Amino acid sequence: MHSGASADKIHIKGPDHKGTFEDYQQIYNEIAELLESNSDYDDGSYGPILLRLAWHASGTYDIETKTGGSNGATMRFAPESDHGANAGLKTARDLLEPVKQKHPWISYSDLWILGGICAIQEMLGPIIPFRPGRSDRDASACAPDERLPNASKGARHLRDIFYRMGFDDREIVALSGAHALGRCHTDSSGYSGPWTFSPTVLTNDYYKLLLDEKWQWKKWNGPAEYEDKKTKSLMMLPTDFELIKDKEFRKHVERYAKDESVFMNEFRDAVLKLFELGVPFKQEERYTFKRTTD
Ligand code: HEM
Repeated sequence: MHSGASADKIHIKGPDHKGTFEDYQQIYNEIAELLESNSDYDDGSYGPILLRLAWHASGTYDIETKTGGSNGATMRFAPESDHGANAGLKTARDLLEPVKQKHPWISYSDLWILGGICAIQEMLGPIIPFRPGRSDRDASACAPDERLPNASKGARHLRDIFYRMGFDDREIVALSGAHALGRCHTDSSGYSGPWTFSPTVLTNDYYKLLLDEKWQWKKWNGPAEYEDKKTKSLMMLPTDFELIKDKEFRKHVERYAKDESVFMNEFRDAVLKLFELGVPFKQEERYTFKRTTD
């Protein structure tokens, strides 16, 4: 009679299901499928914007008050969804919504982080171990505004923001290498353009370009940003440029430009730390997912 429908129902894992490694790998694979599902989108991949979502969910953490961080997925709600820094991220949240509907047992907060990990790995970055255990919170737990970095500011501001999360200078530079990926959008941040020529593959090119290219202020009506003199097709934010102006930061830019594997290892460790900030995990074990291309 209705055997097909009821058989399907039996296999749906309800909100109380406790995910296994296999369940998370399955969700990883489904996110990976979505990354290049729309060739008209930007450079052909939603990977960069999924990484930006996971970072903006995590980067609100304050080590003193132990508030903010990826636990809660409070960017679903105003006022956090309307914070200037989060402009444009609805695209990433909407992309993951069907995955959440299909697997109601995973929290939005674990799903967003899994999205970031999937994006990094599928764009040929390092394997980032994942630990589940984030739970969703309501609008009353929204992070205050201004916890994320402002691209128009200087080294002092970068240190204020990242030290507040518990990072040091080396980790600031390592995390910034994510700007090898993706681009700026005039209708999100107001800035425009990609940082590298391969914005859907993680490389150490961000550091190499910072050091090797000649940069000049872009002449336009938008916010102050740099463009490369040679092709005028790449950009750097004022905060990106601070990494070569500041002596302490520059040391690490040079290390990462010289050796991509050093960058990949230190990026992996810093991202793992970022994604776990402030999460009250009950489980020690971390899972590592296979790339769909392996
Ligand atoms: C160091 C301070 C940082 C500043 C000031 C900053 C600022 C920005 C800005 C203004 C954009 C453009 C957004 C848009 O117009 O769509 C952007 C994009 C991006 N950021 Fe950052 N960011 C910082 C650090 C990070 C970190 C730590 C990560 C990840 C670990 C990251 C990952 C990304 C990615 C992947 C994009 C591209 C998004 C896309 O293509 O849609 N950023 N960032």
